[in-house]
Amino acid sequence: MQSIKTNVAIIGAGPSGLLLGQLLAKQGIDNIIIERVAADYILGRIRAGILEQGLVDLLHEADVYQRMDEEGHVHDGFAISYYGKAYRIDLHELTEGKTVMCYGQTEVTRDLMAARKTSGLSTYYSSSNVTLHGIETAHPCVTFEQDGVSYKLECDYIAGCDGFHGVSRQSIPADKREEFERVYPFGWLGVLSDTPPVADELIYCKTERGFALASMRSSTRSRYYLQVPLSDKVEQWDDQRFWDELKLRLPPESAASLVTGPSIEKSIAPLRSFVCEPMQLGKLFLVGDAAHIVPPTGAKGLNLAASDVAILYRLLNKEYNENQANASQRYSELALSRVWQAERFSWWMSNMLHDFKDDAGKANNMDQKTFERFMKSELDFYLNSKAGQKVIAEQYVGLPYPEI
Ligand code: APR
Ligand code: PHB
Repeated sequence: MQSIKTNVAIIGAGPSGLLLGQLLAKQGIDNIIIERVAADYILGRIRAGILEQGLVDLLHEADVYQRMDEEGHVHDGFAISYYGKAYRIDLHELTEGKTVMCYGQTEVTRDLMAARKTSGLSTYYSSSNVTLHGIETAHPCVTFEQDGVSYKLECDYIAGCDGFHGVSRQSIPADKREEFERVYPFGWLGVLSDTPPVADELIYCKTERGFALASMRSSTRSRYYLQVPLSDKVEQWDDQRFWDELKLRLPPESAASLVTGPSIEKSIAPLRSFVCEPMQLGKLFLVGDAAHIVPPTGAKGLNLAASDVAILYRLLNKEYNENQANASQRYSELALSRVWQAERFSWWMSNMLHDFKDDAGKANNMDQKTFERFMKSELDFYLNSKAGQKVIAEQYVGLPYPEI
């Protein structure tokens, strides 16, 4: 068994782990990342691509911003199409100048990986049997194997950045955590294609046929989604069927100008709201998807991971560099307050924009027809009132990070 040591052991090299590692290193706090899969596998995952200003600022703080600033696109607004009528949410005007950045999560991850390589920090990719020990003691450690060699990593703290299916959350005894969950009764069928986006800004569509989203990665690459039954298989959706259905859900003026082409990726993802409380136990902190999941409707997944990272790294900086022992004990409380706000927004957007068949009516103790009327009039109210639009805009650009 080979012994290694660091300040913070980070489990997982997704955006949470990589960003945390980079920010800690900038403050002179040593860290080692242990990741289950290979770097290329991580870069093969297609994820969302809307960054709040808070994350853009954090990437600047981490010194990993050059390509994002060059290749990303600032979006001043987006549209919600309500049964064919498009309403523009003018983010810039409604939030006193705030905007979002359109830049793919995969690219953020690529940039963070490159920065980590340059800084010479250790990352153990393709590790197996990653196991956490002594999280409630003064001497936690992580054991794992890589290339047939066994390692023991001793550390001050462990940051569990290993996503929803990781080992970190499961290392907290079941009687010391509480989980909150809503699984939605449909999925999102996503298609990536090298075609120009149908519009300059995103369009979220509420229709009689279900939800659709028109998004993008660049001026030549589009990302589209359709709400589909969870029982659907990707093989049931050839490209032609996908484009035909998308046209029926886009506002008519957009449908008329849609450029179609072969898909370069196609997959179905389930939608889930999930929170684990607390987000820390002893020396272990849960960060990002390890602690919470949001349905993608509000584009909050990555952004919420980023605010966890910002909070944790600032608290650890206080401990290591500003002599404030135990500062990190406030992590869970500070992170959860923002997590629940983003959970609520993502849940609300999802309720408002999808077709729930008879599921939501049942869940709300009313027939589906009545439930749909309530949802319709709620969205109607928000879209037709400046105050309502402002409420959507303020949450879409991202609520402020808590003061530390
Ligand atoms: N040991 C080590 N690494 C692990 C383990 C394990 N037992 N289990 C999982 N991992 C790794 C995964 O392989 C993955 O690379 O942890 C990483 C977690 O990355 P993500 O799932 O991307 O989670 P996170 O970094 O929190 O990113 C936040 O924002 O848009 C959302 O869900 C989206 O990925 C996104 C997230
Ligand atoms: C995406 O571009 O993949 C995307 C954008 C916004 C969302 C969800 C996904 O709300």
